[in-house]
Parts: sequence; C-alpha cells; structure tokens
Amino acid sequence: MSLHMPAGQGKAPFGQVDLYRLDTTELDVTDDLYSPKGAIAQAQQLAAKSAGAAETLMLHGGSTAGIHAMLLYSAKRGETVILPRNVHISAIHICATAGIMPAFTQPSYTPTGRPYTTIQSYMDAMDQNPSARAVLVVRPDYYGALEPLAQIVEQAHKRGMLVLCDEAHGAYFNWDKHTDNAGACGADLFVQSAHKTLPALGAGAWLHAMDGVDIVRLRRLLRMVQTSSPSFVNMLSLDDARAWMDEYGGAACEKLRAAMVRFHRKASSLGYHDAQDESGMDYDPLRLVLYAPQGGFELGEALAQMGIDVELCDDRRIACILSLMDGEERLDKLYEALSQIQNSAGSSSAKTSNYQGLSALPIPPRDMPLSVAAFAEAESVALSEAVGRISAVQVGFYPPGIALLAAGERITDELVACLEASQLSHIFGINDDGTLSCVQKEA
Ligand SMILES: Cc1ncc(COP(=O)(O)O)c(C=O)c1O
Repeated sequence: MSLHMPAGQGKAPFGQVDLYRLDTTELDVTDDLYSPKGAIAQAQQLAAKSAGAAETLMLHGGSTAGIHAMLLYSAKRGETVILPRNVHISAIHICATAGIMPAFTQPSYTPTGRPYTTIQSYMDAMDQNPSARAVLVVRPDYYGALEPLAQIVEQAHKRGMLVLCDEAHGAYFNWDKHTDNAGACGADLFVQSAHKTLPALGAGAWLHAMDGVDIVRLRRLLRMVQTSSPSFVNMLSLDDARAWMDEYGGAACEKLRAAMVRFHRKASSLGYHDAQDESGMDYDPLRLVLYAPQGGFELGEALAQMGIDVELCDDRRIACILSLMDGEERLDKLYEALSQIQNSAGSSSAKTSNYQGLSALPIPPRDMPLSVAAFAEAESVALSEAVGRISAVQVGFYPPGIALLAAGERITDELVACLEASQLSHIFGINDDGTLSCVQKEA
C-alpha cells in the first residue's frame, strides 16, 4: 500500500484511461502550452479560479520548474534573493546556474532537530540585504509546518521585495476551507505540486501568479526551464485533478481531516503520537507525521515488510501522504499494521540518525560565490580530509532534499561529523565512493 506521492496512489479521478492513446503534441486542436488559446488556456483559467490566482501556468516539470521560473523572474545575475535554509535544492540549483546570489536565513531547530525559520530571522535577512529582490518561503515544509507567511509578506512588501512561496506540499489548500493558500496570504507567485497531495500524475504542478506579475515574461522564462515537448498526459491529469477537487475536494478534505483525528486518537494508544505539534507553528492537518518510539527508519522498514511504503523516515518519525480519494481506508490499514508492530524504544538496532546533531550545525561559512564554485574545476576528496575545503556541490539528506552544505561553502568539522554519523544513508551530493567534490586548490 502506498502512503507516498504521487497522491493519486494508483487511482484515476474519473476512471482509468488509455494514457498512450491520449499522449499527443501541439496541434490546432490540442493547443500550445506556451501560447495557449484553446483547451490549455481554458484549463489554466479554471486552475487559476480554483486557486484564487490572477493567472496559472501548468507545469509538467514539477514545482522544480516553477521554482526555477519564479527565481529567474525575480532576480537577475548578481542580484540577491533571500532563501530559508530549508529551501528545496531546486532553488539553490537555479541560483547557481543563473548567477543569483542566495542570502540564507538562519534556521532554528525544534528540540528534535526539525529546521524552521522564525519571522525574526526573515526580518534580519531582509535588513542585512536591503537590495534583495525577493524572499522565498517554504510553506508547508515536508513535515507540514506552516510558517507565518502573511507576516513575512507584510515585511517584504514594505521593503519592496517580491514574495515567492514554495507551496509544493499544499496544493489541496485551494479547496480546503481551513487553510489559506499562499496567494490568499499575499504571496506574489507560488508553486504547488498537484502530484504531492492531489490525484495527479507525477511531476504535475502549477505556477500561480497574483495581480502585478508580468505573465508574458514569466511564460518566456518558464519556457527556458521546461522541455519543449510538454506532456499532454500530464496536463490532462492536472486538469482532471482540478476538476475532481472542484467537485469533491472540499468534502474530501473534511472527511480526511475527521479520519485523521480518529486515527491519531487510536494510534497514540499504541504509542505512536502525532509529531506535528512540536514546531509550535501552525501545521497542515492532513500531513501524517508520527513519532516512532523504535526509530523512524525501523518503523519504516517494519511497515515496508508488511507491504506499506511511507513517504519519509527520519531517525524519530515517519511521514505519510494520504490520498484525498481513499485516505480513510488507508489509515485503517495503517492502524492495523501498527497494532501488529512491536514499538518499544530500542526494540531494534537503531541504524542511522540523520537529524541528530543538526541543531548544532550552523550554516557553513561561504568562501566563494555559489555560481562560481558550482562550475569550478573540482576534485574528489575523502570526507575525513575535506574539512577546510570549499564544496563544489550541495549535500544533504533526501528526502527532504534540503542542503546542509552548498557549493562555495567551507566544509566544517561539525558537518563532516554529522555526515559520518549518518553512515551516508539517505544522502545526496556525496559521490558513490563516499568522497565529496571540492573546488580544486590553486596550483
Ligand atoms: C518543499 C519542496 N519544494 C519543491 C519540491 C520539488 O517538487 P517537484 O517534485 O514537484 O518538482 C519538493 C520535492 O520534494 C519539496 O519537498
């Protein structure tokens, strides 16, 4: 059983279709994503209406493509954007390729090591970088925490900065009466991965623009980061997901919300408590995050042996994605499985610990601009010998795809200790032989 994305989890919203027969290209009757006048224009207008946006562009390259387009829209080469440190790596990648300078906010950590960013930290970054063009906010994060976007918007707009929101994990907010989406909170541009919470195919996403955004320019930039052969099957699935949510989404959110409350009550009697409330922030009530007394990896493994695959494990928790179409039944099956798994702390060998020590990990010092280091000549260096060297790559845990180290930053003792403690499990950016690509030293 799937408790991970894509959130359609095998079910087509309006019955099975023949994907191969439906795959097509730009024809007079099928329309053109980058010059839409027919079906695609109509699908985008309907998506914009559901999101309360001025304009919406369909993305078949996931939120990744939308994050790239938003940042290219906001800043030119050499200009600065403010990024929270828990930003998805796609934002760092486009800054590197486009020569945009990231200014990272200082992260805070919950007692169990989950990163988040305080409003004060955003304000400090804005004050230290008054000429920054934009502030990017991740809301919700992978675990469902909701940062105070409306307050960040107020501060950024006062300073003339655009606000971009990575709402990859919050596409369902458009139909949920309890949670405002990023546009309603005042963001200028926001992306949503439909495939993460709605019945849409993998990589289906939307880029929404509010009033004041130059849509012609945005579309031109988007074209630079997506394929010139857009997937019509993917766009069809985006439109189907939107139509299903327009019809059933509000009621489905309510039903799943109630089922989650019931599930948490029962699961906590087994020792599996809701891990959402620890950040002290508002959170997405439909993102299921459970403490695992035996360790998150251990619980994930035990569930996988019973045929249940979850979205994410860390050393203390598991996170699951529930389909709005049949989440209630999946919760029942998950509860059944949990009741059969021994959950005493230390009941199995604690293997990896990817979050341990994170709270003690400051952002490494930057010695070289991101866009220079990312394209510099590099050499592979053993981790134990990498302290003091300049990284040529981003390194972090995946999921959630957050960089602990970015290109141009100096590798510290603490970082190497944290990576070694993880036994390089669930890591991105480390080479297959365990080495790290560092900028070559000048001869
Ligand atoms: C917070 C966040 N933003 C953006 C992305 C990228 O989304 P996509 O996979 O739709 O490109 C992810 C992917 O996991 C994510 O977690």
